[in-house]
Amino acid sequence: MFETIEKEVVKNKQFLSDVLKGLSAETKHISSKYFYDKKGDEIFQQIMHMDEYYLTNAELDIFKSNKCEIAKIFSPDKEAFNLIEFGAGDGLKTKILLKELLNHEIPFDYVPVDISQNALDQLNSSLKEEMPNLSFQGIQGDYFEVLSRLKESNGKRNVVLFLGSNIGNFTNEEALAFTSDIGTKLNAGDLLLIGVDLKKDPRKILLAYNDPKGITAEFNYNLLRRINRELGGNFNIDTFEHHPTYDPVTGECKSALLSNIEQEVVIDDETFHFAQWEAIHTEISRKYSVKQLHKLARKSGFSIKADLFDTNQYFVDSIWEISP
Ligand code: AVJ
Repeated sequence: MFETIEKEVVKNKQFLSDVLKGLSAETKHISSKYFYDKKGDEIFQQIMHMDEYYLTNAELDIFKSNKCEIAKIFSPDKEAFNLIEFGAGDGLKTKILLKELLNHEIPFDYVPVDISQNALDQLNSSLKEEMPNLSFQGIQGDYFEVLSRLKESNGKRNVVLFLGSNIGNFTNEEALAFTSDIGTKLNAGDLLLIGVDLKKDPRKILLAYNDPKGITAEFNYNLLRRINRELGGNFNIDTFEHHPTYDPVTGECKSALLSNIEQEVVIDDETFHFAQWEAIHTEISRKYSVKQLHKLARKSGFSIKADLFDTNQYFVDSIWEISP
């Protein structure tokens, strides 16, 4: 009990220091990892159900059509392995695969990792109910924290899942650092399945982050609300506007919150000045070409085993293997 309270306090301190640092920078920014508190998880669920947010359905389509093939690639001889998932969320897509593996009687341990304890708790209870025979153990944490623990695994093969275009939240350098880091922590023959949103009609992409009902705007405003709730900030949400942009040259879809007036905001006795139309950069959701993705694979020590696409070719689930 004491330990969990202690952990909460430490987490809140990190949140506070990251926010103070980000808002003191020349270009104000706050990491999108802070979107995901209980309210943020709820709003993200709504986003995944929007027609405009094509990513979820595209990847669901890939899993439904290729579950048998994926199961065979993961365990050709039905040998035991660890299935580690970074950013598991509600497990909607993964559950299709989990059921397939259980049906084939392939022995495996499922290790979902998520930044949100709330999301993990919900996944935990739904898995217990839907798949009582599944062996699993959730871990709450930042990807990078958990990566360091990968090496201490139980001697079985590791298969890592990184779905939902979560890699899009990284800059080029961060993405390379992350996949390379996974690469060094895996052994020859281990696999990484990475789900990535592809470059496409810019209007289609922008609409997914600028839905007419304003659900994505709410997702961004919740970050300011969270600062007010947890850090005692005094953001007036009405004076900020959600402003997503997509640049087809870099493939970066960026979200920002713009202050529509000149103002001062106070958080924890620190005052931050905003010029009118000054931005807080909140998120980058990068889109890749297949070529760029393959380059990333090779640079981080993997070879490509398979590319699985949805019928519209909006999205790819690429399976990478550690080169011997
Ligand atoms: C969960 C990070 C993949 O970037 O598309 C959805 C989050 N942000 N709408 C994405 C998000 C705005 C999403 N990821």
